[in-house]
Amino acid sequence: MTVRTLHSSIALGALSLPNRIVLAPMTRARAGIERAPGEIVAQYYAQRASAGLLITEATSVAPEGVGYTDTPGIWSEDQVCGWRNVTDAVHAAGGRIFMQLWHVGRSSHSSLQPRRQLPVAPTAIAIEGQTYTYEGMQDYEVPRALETHEMSQVIEQFRRGAQLAKVAGFDGVEVHGANGYLLDQFLQDGSNHRTDEWGGSIANRARLLLEVTNAVVEVWSADRVGVRLSPNGTFNSMSDSDPVATFSFAAEQLGRLGIVYLHVVEPSAPLMVHGLPVSAVALLKRHFGGSVIAAQGYDKAKAEAVLKAGDADLVAFGKAFISNPDLPARLKVDAPLAQWDVSTFYAGGAKGYVDYPALGSAGGA
Ligand code: PHB
Repeated sequence: MTVRTLHSSIALGALSLPNRIVLAPMTRARAGIERAPGEIVAQYYAQRASAGLLITEATSVAPEGVGYTDTPGIWSEDQVCGWRNVTDAVHAAGGRIFMQLWHVGRSSHSSLQPRRQLPVAPTAIAIEGQTYTYEGMQDYEVPRALETHEMSQVIEQFRRGAQLAKVAGFDGVEVHGANGYLLDQFLQDGSNHRTDEWGGSIANRARLLLEVTNAVVEVWSADRVGVRLSPNGTFNSMSDSDPVATFSFAAEQLGRLGIVYLHVVEPSAPLMVHGLPVSAVALLKRHFGGSVIAAQGYDKAKAEAVLKAGDADLVAFGKAFISNPDLPARLKVDAPLAQWDVSTFYAGGAKGYVDYPALGSAGGA
């Protein structure tokens, strides 16, 4: 019988992971206006190389897919060189790293877009509220609905990002289908009111996610491609009239593509089936059929429980991994965890980024 604990090994497609602890993808905004990671980014990921798998912060596949200040990209030569330093540093430290491929869609602002064009989306429906830009806080704008003939270009942007991630030396890639960004905007009917073959039925709304994933699989092979979904997520003004049906379909179709994992962000409000709350990871794992990474709000006890129950195969840790670069070692011996400082999450620079010590090192707890 397989042992399923955080510190048990697992085969993930072509990779053999020494533990089931994953560094969750997290925006850290240290890539500058060129959106190319420098030395400090390599240091940050290498410090966390004891994770079974590292997943990078969301990385835009094209300038149109950018939505925040100082987040990285994967379309230019400088970006590829910067990421090559990151993957070299992680591999030298004994780790494995996937790049998360991203297009923000409507979750952007014209001041962050090429030629100050409007952000693109399935439908011209704005996110409520404001977003942080280089010009301060700005209202989200009503995006421009993509024309049907433009859809193949979006798929090609992801394909190209996947190719460049390969050049940059990654071990695989994760397609960002979660958290109200472009692929999620197409998937859920609150943000997709299209009447062409990219909207309407669940199959039509899932088409972009599946075609993008298929293109990425053609570049990498399925055993090095994961997908992240956030069923019932409400961030970025997301909603769906039947999230159980929508996400069950997506998980099943992704399973058919044979991708190596499905990464599920736990919703804050549970999915309901026949009036009863169901576990999103357990439900989607049943439909997907392969390995599942559970994410959002896990501590050691909850993580061990979800693994033991067989509802997930790996668990991603976010904020705790920011402030504890040696998180796997600390979890193993139940060492105290250092508290994170929210004010430095996106502040730029080394502070609150690469200066959290490991246990037993100078300055460590
Ligand atoms: C963010 O930068 O706020 C962000 C990025 C990617 C996510 C979620 C949030 O998936």
